[in-house]
Amino acid sequence: MNRDKQMTKDQRLFDLRWRRSETDLLDPFRRLYGRHPAIEAELKALLQRYWDERPDALKDLDLQRDLEPDWFLSEKMVGYVFYVDRFAGTLKGVLDHIGYLEELGATYVHFMPCLKPRPGPNDGGYSVMDYGAIDPRIGTMDDFEEVAAALRARGISICIDLVLNHTAKEHAWAEKAKAGDERYRNYYWMFDNPDEPVAYEKTLVEVFPNDAPGNFTHYPEIGSWVWTTFNEHQWDLNWSNPRVFLEIVCVMLTLANRGADVLRLDAVAFMWKRLGTNCQNQPEVHDILQGLRAATRIAAPAVIHKAEAIVAPRDLVPYLGQGSHAGREANLAYHNNLMVQYWSSLATRQTPLMTNVLRTHFPPRFRNACWATYIRCHDDIGWAITEEDGAAIPNVSGAGHRRFLADFYAGQHTGSFARGGIFQENVETGDRRNSGSFASLAGLESALAAGDTVAAGAAVQRMLMGVALIASFGGLPLLYMGDEVGLLNDYSFENVPEHAHDNRWMHRPAMDWELVNKAQGGEGAPAQILAGVRHILARRKAVAESSTAIYATRVIDAGHPAIFGFVREADVGALAALFNFSETWRNVEASVLREAGVTEFHDQLSDGKVTLHNDQVAVAPYGRIWLT
Ligand code: GLC
Repeated sequence: MNRDKQMTKDQRLFDLRWRRSETDLLDPFRRLYGRHPAIEAELKALLQRYWDERPDALKDLDLQRDLEPDWFLSEKMVGYVFYVDRFAGTLKGVLDHIGYLEELGATYVHFMPCLKPRPGPNDGGYSVMDYGAIDPRIGTMDDFEEVAAALRARGISICIDLVLNHTAKEHAWAEKAKAGDERYRNYYWMFDNPDEPVAYEKTLVEVFPNDAPGNFTHYPEIGSWVWTTFNEHQWDLNWSNPRVFLEIVCVMLTLANRGADVLRLDAVAFMWKRLGTNCQNQPEVHDILQGLRAATRIAAPAVIHKAEAIVAPRDLVPYLGQGSHAGREANLAYHNNLMVQYWSSLATRQTPLMTNVLRTHFPPRFRNACWATYIRCHDDIGWAITEEDGAAIPNVSGAGHRRFLADFYAGQHTGSFARGGIFQENVETGDRRNSGSFASLAGLESALAAGDTVAAGAAVQRMLMGVALIASFGGLPLLYMGDEVGLLNDYSFENVPEHAHDNRWMHRPAMDWELVNKAQGGEGAPAQILAGVRHILARRKAVAESSTAIYATRVIDAGHPAIFGFVREADVGALAALFNFSETWRNVEASVLREAGVTEFHDQLSDGKVTLHNDQVAVAPYGRIWLT
């Protein structure tokens, strides 16, 4: 095609994309900011500019994903999450491990925060001072582009963090704000006196009550009180200013044009402030997210958005788009409740709470969106179990259960198999969260310390049950680096001055490649976990109905309090998944499964026929079965 013709076609594509998403963008934009024709024109010009700059290879990817818009819902998708330095030293080092990622089945990798952080403590990279640069310790933007292209060529997409609730106080915008530049002071929440902070503080909660109490910081040198929800060095952006929206659009599209496929929108719940509320999950947040999504659909349509909102069920569901936002908000959101309920049932050997919560609060599917399912990530576990949900189950109270779980997973409860830590104890509210790696929380650390091979075996089965759960629930499963070989808590963070105050570092160990090598084909817990994980993920890919997020997930009552179950309603027939949360064999009535649509009693996970005894299916200790 000659150049002129190519350009007209490109422009025509932009015009079509603009027309498709214009109202998705401008309706929420106007609800948020009112009518500003000049700013709207600027926004459109920005999108046009980033589209014009978008590399041809990525425009091809845009077309490919136009043709296959449900690519991320596919059973072929498996995510793997890592800190680049802890996995591979540097960005380019990742290229040496593509084979390993492929053997696991990963088709999506999340590079944990890798943009240039502030010097000193940086909240694990979530205190970004330059969105246009990669952390110089691991590489450059050109390296990122190169690695992204190489991974893409091998069928692996890349997720990258976009921290949009706050910037580091060393970010160029913050520096100008400190210098008194009004334009940039309005990028943040800066107050000349403590009156407003005091008023807001009345209804706010503290995210890091031990490390960073309060939500505001007073800087006498500039005579300002600044909103700092997380740490003192993380300044909350003022999203009620349309300029901030435009700036973040630029950041987003810059990363997209360098080759990011998935943008993980960090801490989105906190983006809108409203006096008299806890300033989380405000309706405007959903307008902002729809607007950002529309902007990406116009100028970098191959890219999808993942929302990180670790909140209670009622507040969580809207992030995947509900009501007028359906199909227009995030494409992925962390299912923190599935994760919490897994740990809760594991501790109690009881699933009624899990069944009730997952059945009552969550729709069976979404439009153009699905859950990111996971068991562990780099963060602590917050026990998002409400009073009402506790009260719905006999002998359970929300507060009592949260207390029990925090004790259990800190290893402070008699009979607990877990080894972990308490993360941020809020003495005022009694809230306590937990740190700890998948393996240590699931009992492997204590079993190995006691030289108890039976207990180690149980820990391995607990972990594999968790992996089978996230692989079949109807979402994109995310494996956290090292969990596939059962990496234990790493207590050496206490010796690193920047990390010592934050015990989330106990579950962020560096990848142990020696252990990985030994685990390939060897014996012992790491080898069993690795082989088990690879098997489950391979079966996920082989059985579309168990895994593609296109189909609905209906939670069922399996008729036994230790068994959790759900049905995937596929076109070719149902698949019922069962999980035994106890260390004893349990039976499920075949009639319950027939009612759910099971006809052949073929276990797709082991790919074998299940024999019924007394018209019951027997589920092994920590067993998992995917029945069609
Ligand atoms: C997100 C991150 C967490 C970080 C926080 C503040 O929740 O996952 O690690 O501390 O945002 O950026």
